Amino acid sequence: MARPTTVHVCSACGHETPRWAGQCPGCSEWNTLVEEVRQPASRGSGGRLSRGSAASRAGAVRPIALGDVVTEEQQRLRTGIGELDNVLGGGIVPGSLVLIGGAPGIGKSTLTTMALANLVAAGRRTLYVSAEESAAQIRMRAERLSGGAALQIPVIAETDLQTVLATLESERPEVCVIDSVQTLSSTELTSAPGSVGQVREVAGEIMRVAKALRIAVLLVGHVTKEGALAGPRVLEHLVDCVLQFEGERERTYRTVRAIKNRFGSTNEAGVFEMHDHGLVEVLDASARFVSEATRAAGSVVLCAMEGSRPLLVEVQALVSASELVPPRRVVAGLDRNRVALVLAVLGRHGGIGLGAADVFINVVGGVRVDEPGADLAVALAVASAARRIALVAAGGAAGGVTTGGTPDHPLACFGELGLTGELRTVAHADRRLAEAEKFGLTTVLHPDSHRTLRAALSAALGRGERSVARAAA
Ligand code: TYD
Ligand code: MG
Repeated sequence: MARPTTVHVCSACGHETPRWAGQCPGCSEWNTLVEEVRQPASRGSGGRLSRGSAASRAGAVRPIALGDVVTEEQQRLRTGIGELDNVLGGGIVPGSLVLIGGAPGIGKSTLTTMALANLVAAGRRTLYVSAEESAAQIRMRAERLSGGAALQIPVIAETDLQTVLATLESERPEVCVIDSVQTLSSTELTSAPGSVGQVREVAGEIMRVAKALRIAVLLVGHVTKEGALAGPRVLEHLVDCVLQFEGERERTYRTVRAIKNRFGSTNEAGVFEMHDHGLVEVLDASARFVSEATRAAGSVVLCAMEGSRPLLVEVQALVSASELVPPRRVVAGLDRNRVALVLAVLGRHGGIGLGAADVFINVVGGVRVDEPGADLAVALAVASAARRIALVAAGGAAGGVTTGGTPDHPLACFGELGLTGELRTVAHADRRLAEAEKFGLTTVLHPDSHRTLRAALSAALGRGERSVARAAA
């Protein structure tokens, strides 16, 4: 059989060259050549159809109406981790390809090991392929996890793609973890493991075998610090489901959310906490964040949405005189550009200019909030910090929606800011309000209670300003 050869294909124009070059000879773009395997025309059993076969040799197929397509009842494989099953849409679909992306050290190996442990305990055939750690290292992790079922997981420590494919064919697990897609490599390509060509080849070949043998595969992929699914981004169109594992390594809270799911909604998110015996699902995150909220100047509670679930988190801001031009904007847990927009609106329409101040903003607990509903919380936290007025809702007669009153609970809010200073409605207002009420936050500023940022600011600060004045008198 002829040896497969590789070519370098330009991802911009499709030009092919036998050797790599920095600049594509076809379109003169830089860094677009990606190595690909060019299989010789005939390929053994189970391989792709031979290329270049004339249309005359292929028999035409008859299209059928979608209503006549026979669907089989999907029996999902439950991982036993409620939050993960939820995000997947009810468990792993047999034969599906799931990409789990996350920064190094976030807990991808821990989560997938825990999932396999539960599946093994439920009598499923599994396989853990580690291309990063030795079997002994995986065992050490498994020993930390509670239950002991993790020690029953069959593992191989292997970096060679062809060996892994052969093992899949002989073992035929129902669920397999590949940890990680960037460290496996095919010997047919000369490029380094983790390069775009290798990652694409590895995922493509694994998918081919997995779909043929109906093996569900959890592909682990590393993500750069900037949040891009670096290599694996090229895989997003290929896989059935993309899960993103987020959080800060130094903090304990982590969230898993689906950013693509062919078998379920992408609205779900799961919250976990890293303990010394593995990841633990966090079911009462709101309660914890609210009880920890400082109620000091610069702090406000945001009624955020984690997927389709409301979550109360504390947003903190610090404003201090700056000696730098331009002044510093340090943001954790929020989108920097969104914060810049909010600060601009705050200056223009809220009368709080921060041109000569450093602004630090943090979502407490390492939670990441990626939704416009956080705008008002940022604005109120920064305004509160700048004016040094604590936003507590004493008694309950403040401008928000009040439904009774525990004395001195933190002020809560949500809402998007428009560029003209108006507050815009965001999704799931009812669920956010219900969550706030559940945890005793009776004063909530939101787009239905206040139409503009200015109105919300005077409701939040005006009252405080009066009480400060009273305290001074
Ligand atoms: P790991 O799952 O190896 O992360 P990833 O595969 O995403 O790179 O582990 C993440 C971190 O969690 C690691 O620094 C060790 C820590 N850890 C715990 O705190 N408790 C535990 O029970 C385990 C297994 C790991
Ligand atoms: Mg790992």
